[in-house]
Amino acid sequence: MKKTHRLNQKLVFAFLILIKALNLRADEGMLIPSLIAAFESDMKAKGMKLTAEDIYSINKASLKDAIFQFGGGCTAELVSSKGLLLTNHHCGYSQIQSHSSLEKDYLKNGFWAKTLTEELPNPGLIAVRIVRIEDVTALVLNGASSKDDKSTIQSNIQKIISEVVANSGYEAEVKAFNYGNDYYMMVKEIFTDIRFVGTPPNSIGKFGGDTDNWVWPRHTGDFSVFRIYAGKDNKPAAYSKENVPYTPIRYLNISFRDRKEGDFTMVYGFPGQTEQHVVSSYLKFIIEKERPARIHMRDLSLGVIDAAMKASDLTRIQYAAKQASIANAWKKWIGQIDGLRTQDAVMLKQNKESEYTKLANSKEEWKKYASVVYEMNALVERDINWEFKYAMGVEYFSYGPEYFKLARAVNDLVSNYQKYKTSGELNTVLERLKVGADGFFKNYDASVDKEIFNKLTKEYFSNTDQWEGIKKELMYSTTPDWCDNYIKSISDRIYTKSVLTDKERYLNFLQNFNDKSIKKLDKDVGLQHYTAHITPFRNYVIPAYQNFSNNMSTLLQTYVEGKKIMSPNAKHWPDANSTLRITYGKLEGSTPTDGMKYTEHTTLEGMIAKYHSGNADFELQPRMLELFKQKNYGNYAQNGQLWVCFTGSNHTTGGNSGSPVLDENGNLMGLNFDRTWESTMSDYLFDSARCRNVVVDIRYVLWVMDIYSGARHLVDEMVLVKE
Ligand code: ARG
Ligand code: GLU
Repeated sequence: MKKTHRLNQKLVFAFLILIKALNLRADEGMLIPSLIAAFESDMKAKGMKLTAEDIYSINKASLKDAIFQFGGGCTAELVSSKGLLLTNHHCGYSQIQSHSSLEKDYLKNGFWAKTLTEELPNPGLIAVRIVRIEDVTALVLNGASSKDDKSTIQSNIQKIISEVVANSGYEAEVKAFNYGNDYYMMVKEIFTDIRFVGTPPNSIGKFGGDTDNWVWPRHTGDFSVFRIYAGKDNKPAAYSKENVPYTPIRYLNISFRDRKEGDFTMVYGFPGQTEQHVVSSYLKFIIEKERPARIHMRDLSLGVIDAAMKASDLTRIQYAAKQASIANAWKKWIGQIDGLRTQDAVMLKQNKESEYTKLANSKEEWKKYASVVYEMNALVERDINWEFKYAMGVEYFSYGPEYFKLARAVNDLVSNYQKYKTSGELNTVLERLKVGADGFFKNYDASVDKEIFNKLTKEYFSNTDQWEGIKKELMYSTTPDWCDNYIKSISDRIYTKSVLTDKERYLNFLQNFNDKSIKKLDKDVGLQHYTAHITPFRNYVIPAYQNFSNNMSTLLQTYVEGKKIMSPNAKHWPDANSTLRITYGKLEGSTPTDGMKYTEHTTLEGMIAKYHSGNADFELQPRMLELFKQKNYGNYAQNGQLWVCFTGSNHTTGGNSGSPVLDENGNLMGLNFDRTWESTMSDYLFDSARCRNVVVDIRYVLWVMDIYSGARHLVDEMVLVKE
């Protein structure tokens, strides 16, 4: 009797732990749409009224047909029968910027096309519909000696893709999931005529700027409007005046009704990358070494850019998109390592890892998983420095001095000069470089670039121990500030002499290009510096880093396989990899730290309060203040308040920007655009108590279009669903 009682107690206890474990992870996961049926009953239990077929179907129009990958890195959704497409303001930012000038300052004033003919083309911009997703694991691994048999796998993939492309006229891509344990094929329809329809001014679309980026409470109207155009047959077509607005298979209706905490929410979009499985010592490296070094590199360049943008309107426009891209990851990383530290993420990982290894040792057939954690940690210890050097190179060469971009282009000319000459392509290549120069120098300020060069070169050299080599090279390396002097002397020459740092010098050089020019380039200080440092980076650092990363990936493949086999009942989901995913949760506030509570929505009142703080990031135009004073909210308010943003417990990441946040009927509640500061750790570790995605309410979006901007005709294209 006593014994069974104790057993019962034990069982209850074990059950409670299980519930707690499941509960903690209730909202975690980015699910593959074609497998969503497995979650249908859970989603329904949480309030969803749709069926799995409504969400994803290959037999009929479903929600997925309204959702597009936008410009490669964001998500967008169709909201009208005429191909009207919504995405974030920051996702359309480079297009908005490229249509802007001092005379037509769309960043500052916004833009609204009044008719179809006023909608502006965007060369290079694409929007991709997913036609279907197919598990092709068996086909990909067919004949492979192991999951690591790269050549068989590659040739199988090529075969699968070419068959689909030949038979359907669509594009296709096969991607590894779970580090090569699974493979899925995405069949895609790619639209290439995407026109710019409208945007609110920065004072709405980027309200809060960097001060509020990644932060709650939030009041950003982060949306912009595009339209997909197609050929007369409604198929994708290259830009042409003859093209017509695309007629969607499915578009989203607008969830036009009151909301409350607890409402079901679902986010459908293209999350870019998560790394839930990384080993503890790797995470420690990220938290303690890699992120702090990258953050510091960006502190330096942002210091230069921010000051220059404040000082001149022209620089503000020129550097708007670059600044935003540097600042965005910079701030995310700061929040991320903060969250991982306070959550003691490394220790949590270590605990999980020892549980895993213990489990693996408990059964003969699981023994093959027993050493994988140890091996991953050993690999980190041996080779992690390559990842560090690689990260420093990315910061320096891709986010550092900008003239490196021209150096890259010119280097191609140098290496292929003879080839271009004999093939007769030379003139075309030179023309292309000239056209590229216009775009480049439009947004370039050599004095800004020089300052960035001075700061980042020093940092890059220090972090990659290149000083030693340079010191040996220089015989006079005795004064304490010799490294500053060294950098100053090369940068003075680079920014006064190199053809790569001045438009006139560059165009002159291309204009008078001949056999001797190649020789002259050899002596160009700008190109010399770039070549001297990119070459070892390309030849040694990148291959060594790739080798490390491949080895890690192979171990992760085993590690993840072990998780699935040894704990079959846990909720497994493949890391984000820029493919279409679904995550669901609810409209919900959070308690990010002890003694602090975030409510689940913000209103226009809070926006006005921020404006009164006087911070330049909270600048508003008089119209906003006027409409606020009149309480002119049209029919977009709820209980007399205009909701601006809300948060949800949906597991999202970069790439989910612009993703539709859908209600229980699949109607559009708002556009996802961010996570809270405390959430940014979720790329490594999701914590449902604190991780929240940030959404701009569609009712605010429509208010800005209609009442603020007078673009009522766009609202009229949409279907507003009251109940
Ligand atoms: N943090 C959001 C994302 O990762 C928004 C970025 C754009 N906003 C900004 N202030 N830079 O994309
Ligand atoms: N703003 C991010 C994006 O561009 C989404 C925020 C996040 O990382 O969750 O996708």
